Amino acid sequence: MSNPNPTLGPPTTLGTLAITGATGTIGRDVLTSLIAGGHGQRVRAVVRDPVGITADVQTVHADFSDPDTLATAFDGAEAVLLLCGHHPDQLTYERAALAAATAAGVQRVVYISAAAADRDPAPALALGHQRLERELLASTQLAGTVLRPTAVFSSLLTGIGGLIRPDGQVPLAFGAARVTLVDARDVGDAAAVVLADARHAGCVYTLTGPQSLSGDEIVAALADALEVPLQHIDHTPAALQDLLLRAGAPTEMVGHLFDLFSYFGSGEMDTVTTDVATLTGHQPRSLDSWLRSSQGEALIARMAAQSNRLAADTS
Ligand SMILES: NC(=O)c1ccc[n+]([C@@H]2O[C@H](COP(=O)([O-])OP(=O)(O)OC[C@H]3O[C@@H](n4cnc5c(N)ncnc54)[C@H](OP(=O)(O)O)[C@@H]3O)[C@@H](O)[C@H]2O)c1
Repeated sequence: MSNPNPTLGPPTTLGTLAITGATGTIGRDVLTSLIAGGHGQRVRAVVRDPVGITADVQTVHADFSDPDTLATAFDGAEAVLLLCGHHPDQLTYERAALAAATAAGVQRVVYISAAAADRDPAPALALGHQRLERELLASTQLAGTVLRPTAVFSSLLTGIGGLIRPDGQVPLAFGAARVTLVDARDVGDAAAVVLADARHAGCVYTLTGPQSLSGDEIVAALADALEVPLQHIDHTPAALQDLLLRAGAPTEMVGHLFDLFSYFGSGEMDTVTTDVATLTGHQPRSLDSWLRSSQGEALIARMAAQSNRLAADTS
């Protein structure tokens, strides 16, 4: 469900915006968009380690596993961006953040959820997100806005990059299903808009790219960028899981990939929405444009170096 409100005008709030997860894939782009939008002076990056955070914003230390630090970090903030990376205790951490925001008198929380959280029942990878969304939207003290990104280009391509074999085969496991991926910069732009305007309270937005893509198309785009021939090989999620575990891949990473590809394969992540364009005023960026961005080019350079190493190891 999404309910963009096209009548929204200029920002209406001027308070402090506390941004958790500011060092992560999505959080970095939220900071960039807030600064570009002229909100840098009221941004407070809530981080475990300030390394890499621009001097354009205030930083404050906090750790989700230590609720007292969250309470201090949210003190005096008008709105909080709640974003936590994958962790076995993620739901506990996010609940602690909601409690800390409530206790600190924060008015609004913008929550980074995931597209799959709209399913009932939610797939394994979005169960915690769905619970947290419901708790936030039911709060009588916090006004909640939920952003549900589909998979982010950089995260998915980093994962796929790790699957490329020296012979150019790329084993994926979502059959012929199409998926809508999204550029983290568009998630950042959308988050900056809803953080800066209290009138998005109560709204839920699903953030996708401009088109759905098949495994063949994703691998072809990657082959173009890497300038090497690659071949998409289709496995079942269980067969891919088995292959990766036998190759010594970390259990947690393999489990996440299994959940993700199983959900992709269900065909339920192929819907393109207009929410990025409605919120930001620009069309969502495509996979090709991401691959040509500095971030895309940096990932491709890392993958090329990795495949050279693999080729050397096996020659
Ligand atoms: N990336 C995607 O494709 C995608 C798509 C849809 C939804 N989402 C959702 O978006 C959220 C964020 O994803 P992401 O890809 O941006 O994650 P990420 O790159 O792993 O970043 C996670 C952020 O959370 C911070 N963090 C983790 N544990 C913490 C702790 N104990 N205390 C304080 N900070 C902590 C990390 O800080 P450190 O730098 O200190 O580790 C980092 O800034 C997740 O809930 C994910 O499910 C992601």
